[in-house]
Amino acid sequence: MQKNVTYTETGNGTRIPLVGYGTFLITDEEVADAVFNAIKVGYRHIDTAAVYNNEVGVGLGIKKALSDLSLTRDDIFVTTKLWPGYAGWGEESKNKQDTLAAYNQSLEKLGLDYVDLYLIHSPHGGEQRLSQWEALLELQLSGRVKSIGVSNYSIKHLDEIKNAGLPLPDVNQIELHPWSQKPELREYLEINGIAPIAYSSLAPLSTWRNKPDQTSGKTQAMIDDGAVFSTLAQKYNVTEAQFLLRWAVQQGYPVLPKSLNPERMRQNLDVFGFDISEEDMNLIKLMNRGDGIAWDLGDPSLID
Ligand SMILES: NC(=O)c1ccc[n+]([C@@H]2O[C@H](COP(=O)([O-])OP(=O)(O)OC[C@H]3O[C@@H](n4cnc5c(N)ncnc54)[C@H](OP(=O)(O)O)[C@@H]3O)[C@@H](O)[C@H]2O)c1
Repeated sequence: MQKNVTYTETGNGTRIPLVGYGTFLITDEEVADAVFNAIKVGYRHIDTAAVYNNEVGVGLGIKKALSDLSLTRDDIFVTTKLWPGYAGWGEESKNKQDTLAAYNQSLEKLGLDYVDLYLIHSPHGGEQRLSQWEALLELQLSGRVKSIGVSNYSIKHLDEIKNAGLPLPDVNQIELHPWSQKPELREYLEINGIAPIAYSSLAPLSTWRNKPDQTSGKTQAMIDDGAVFSTLAQKYNVTEAQFLLRWAVQQGYPVLPKSLNPERMRQNLDVFGFDISEEDMNLIKLMNRGDGIAWDLGDPSLID
């Protein structure tokens, strides 16, 4: 990856801006201003989900940006996600019709005619998982959504689609950072032409979700080890956040940093001016700690 390439291209030729703006844990009230400010400072990729309960505000922020900043809808790459429902958490799994209805509901809340990327948020749909995927394929075939994909899917869940003889997702959005590198899954994605999108890139930072009501599976050992990124960042004269984001972007993976702080928002977008050396990339390969800490999926291999 060259320093100044700012998008990645999926198998179907879609260009995804490498730095997106994440909106998890931003309330519907705060998010319109946050999204507007993000687009104003240069973000062209916005990530939300039905379960974030902020699609209305995200849509308002986008609408204001389009009118005030003289942008067109094509300029912004918008992702939202289907909440699949999970019987194990007392919810009903969405069937095909429910999934089609959920997409319409998301569009209505966002106030948009289409999204660029629609994802199944997690593999918790159980027996309905393939029906949900069929619904997304139908939406894509009818031109109502540009690209489709999944999130938090393991090799087993992707094989399920493959074994059913259905087209594979364009994208799998996964937790990906030096502590959760998922080498086998990434290899599978590459072989099968599925683009990874990285979330929770900033998990190793001491500032990551450090407010009392924010969920985090960070252990004390991780907190103690976090300082290594500060040393690495200093070497490149960048912040730790920029270093962690560059680690993914340099490998061609889009990232979705979330911040409500204007200076951090700007800084997180500025990751194209340096390259991490091969030596340091190899050093980071040794820091993998497994499946991740952003949310308790249960063991994905046990989700059937
Ligand atoms: N598909 C999924 O299941 C899934 C799961 C998790 C996340 N996501 C997506 O990925 C996005 C990002 O993931 P995330 O929300 O877990 O976390 P993140 O973007 O990795 O980190 C956000 C945290 O880091 C802090 N931060 C941001 N920029 C910083 C900087 N430059 N310096 C220091 N601290 C900084 C933020 O605090 P301040 O806000 O105070 O700056 C916040 O606490 C989400 O918003 C969502 O869109 C998807």
